[in-house]
Amino acid sequence: MVESPGYVTLEIEGRKVKLPVVVGSEGEKAIDIGNLRRETGYVTLDPSFMNTAACYSQITFVDGEKGILRYRGIPIEELVQKTMFVEVAYLLVHGELPNEEERRNFSRLLNRNSLLHEDMRHFFDHFPQGAHPMHILSTMINALAAFYPNVDLKSMADDIDLSCARLISIVRTMAAFAYKKSIGEPVVYPRHDLSYCANFLNMMFDSPVSPYQIRPEAVRILNILFILHADHEQNCSTTAVRSIGSAQVNLYATISAGISALSGPLHGGANQAVIEMLRMIQADGDVKKFINMAKDRTNPFRLMGFGHRVYKTYDPRAAIIKKECNAYLERIHYKDPLLDVAREVEEIALTDPYFIERHLYPNVDFYTGILYRALGIPENMFTVMFALARLPGWIAHWKEMIGGATKIVRPRQIYIGKTLADTMEAMAVREVLTQN
Ligand code: ACO
Repeated sequence: MVESPGYVTLEIEGRKVKLPVVVGSEGEKAIDIGNLRRETGYVTLDPSFMNTAACYSQITFVDGEKGILRYRGIPIEELVQKTMFVEVAYLLVHGELPNEEERRNFSRLLNRNSLLHEDMRHFFDHFPQGAHPMHILSTMINALAAFYPNVDLKSMADDIDLSCARLISIVRTMAAFAYKKSIGEPVVYPRHDLSYCANFLNMMFDSPVSPYQIRPEAVRILNILFILHADHEQNCSTTAVRSIGSAQVNLYATISAGISALSGPLHGGANQAVIEMLRMIQADGDVKKFINMAKDRTNPFRLMGFGHRVYKTYDPRAAIIKKECNAYLERIHYKDPLLDVAREVEEIALTDPYFIERHLYPNVDFYTGILYRALGIPENMFTVMFALARLPGWIAHWKEMIGGATKIVRPRQIYIGKTLADTMEAMAVREVLTQN
């Protein structure tokens, strides 16, 4: 109940408490319950934060009902058309797109920090064959703190350009090294003459026996994919980053936690899970059977790449990827039978009442894997690609969080376990039994 602009009144146990209303710059309203417990003894209960704004943020705006995504006020559609990933990284971390000089300086910093410490390179030899690259990546990023010891909060914040460039650049090198190790090929070092995405493709696919031809259209697609994944406000991994960072953990350990959160199949791991699902459907041939399985509440199967906590309409990133995927595959004359399966799944799902009623649409991951396949990226690297792209977003949130008056994140709970009376009773019974 809105009592006056700026307040709502809550009646608890016959007492009226005024709670301030806050309104975001895009009109989103919230009730500030910061003083609720102090004033009433009550807390709020909101498992999985379905209805809780955990912070103020100036980085990314998402309107899940209208399908809007903007970084620092700029629509995602425009960024995809007019910018490169490195510029978007700068935008997220610094708040503005770089001018020419800033862009050059940032690129120079990325180049200067692209090499991994040689001692770290040997770490790769000790992971077992077949280890998932996301596990390797989170471990390696955590280890960075031991190699670059200036990890106290102040040094990192003061030197955010360097901290940011080192992470964005080095993690790309790590990812490519992890892949080369997994296929038993010598690693390829980064080159200063190549752009960020071209460099990554070269490190992944160049080999002493077969030089890699860097195709501009592949570089463009990778830029688009990275831009689309660069931030998405308070998603699971970003929330992990902000929560863990609030304990004043160094940036490397914080990002490592973000990578771990992202690896889950309900989050960043979904892009790999989508391809596995599409392959399963293709092998079976009966799309409707899988749609019915997804609708069956007794069956744990879900349509991977469908649904989103925030978007209740078509994910704007999925719309861009779908269009780019069709165009790119056509341009390079690449026929992927999984694309046909994906189209059929989408078509059936979008006309099915189950999906319509629940507002379940393809999310960013539905078509991403098909594009990665066309780029030659192996499936177990898909989530790593997502992590590379999300780094600037995580760093921006970390920077915003430590720059504000954030207290350590520490939610409350409603305890529903045994009471002291229960345990005393059980202990008394036990005592009687042992005495007998
Ligand atoms: N297939 C079938 N049913 C689904 C799906 C799906 N993919 N997603 C949601 N539903 C159903 C749920 O069973 C639930 O039905 P009910 O009301 O009958 O109980 C209803 O839709 C609401 O779903 P929730 O699970 O409450 O939605 P939530 O916001 O918690 O979950 C999530 C969002 C995790 C993305 C979910 O839609 C999902 O599991 N999707 C598949 C995994 C996936 O694609 N993840 C990537 C997300 S994007 C990203 O992380 C970058």
